[in-house]
Amino acid sequence: MKDKKVKKIFNNISLRYDLANFFISFGIERYWRVKFLKMISGSEKRILDACCGTGYSTIAVAGRLKNEAALYGIDFSSEMLEIARLKSKKFLSNTNKHPGVRIRFQENDVTYLDFNNNYFDLITIVFGIRNVEYREKAIKEFYRMSSEKGKLLIMEFNYPKNKFIRKFYDFYLNYVISNIGAMITGNKKAYSYLAQSIKNFPDPDKFSRTIKESGWKILKVCPMTFGICTIYYAEK
Ligand SMILES: C[S@@+](CC[C@H](N)C(=O)[O-])C[C@H]1O[C@@H](n2cnc3c(N)ncnc32)[C@H](O)[C@@H]1O
Repeated sequence: MKDKKVKKIFNNISLRYDLANFFISFGIERYWRVKFLKMISGSEKRILDACCGTGYSTIAVAGRLKNEAALYGIDFSSEMLEIARLKSKKFLSNTNKHPGVRIRFQENDVTYLDFNNNYFDLITIVFGIRNVEYREKAIKEFYRMSSEKGKLLIMEFNYPKNKFIRKFYDFYLNYVISNIGAMITGNKKAYSYLAQSIKNFPDPDKFSRTIKESGWKILKVCPMTFGICTIYYAEK
């Protein structure tokens, strides 16, 4: 879908995005996120959380960091970022565990960023890449900005390969997601888009090829929960 429409959708659902996520995944996304976070060593100094949305992923990454670090959350939806800023203020004021971590949110398109070459030790993108119109360009841009041996961690939904699982998943995508999403956010169109975008997203083999073709070396591909969610771990 075109960037403009995606931006409009996320601006529209921002207030209830986190809550809707929890319910439409029946809470499983929390388990996926824990698995994702365990792949972060915590010693990184410059981190980019691309498509950070309401900052859910950004704040969780901040919680993993052990040293002084600069963490940037980038998103092109101003409404999602507004919530992210409020949440990060609360996080930073409630914790004395991560005094050296600075979090900055910027409204920008992740496909065109002006950070220097070789800048980031770690780039994360959680449930974001599926929504990016020029995906390959964004992954190449991440490569340019990543330091030598810098890491790229992507988590994204997939349409499962198994035909039997697909039957259940189709029901879930077509009826459950859009109805629960609509009930919570009042926006049925947005959740129909989200369901369709999961179906349209390339399978893990194809998407791994895109990552490799951008220069990255893939270290791990971890499918979870019957292949409906996958973590991609790559190194420059
Ligand atoms: C599903 S949300 C993910 C939010 C967050 N990472 C999380 O863990 O919940 C996807 C986000 O990607 C953003 N997005 C999509 N395409 C983008 C682009 N080209 N540049 C910046 N943000 C983009 C949307 O605005 C939206 O906030």
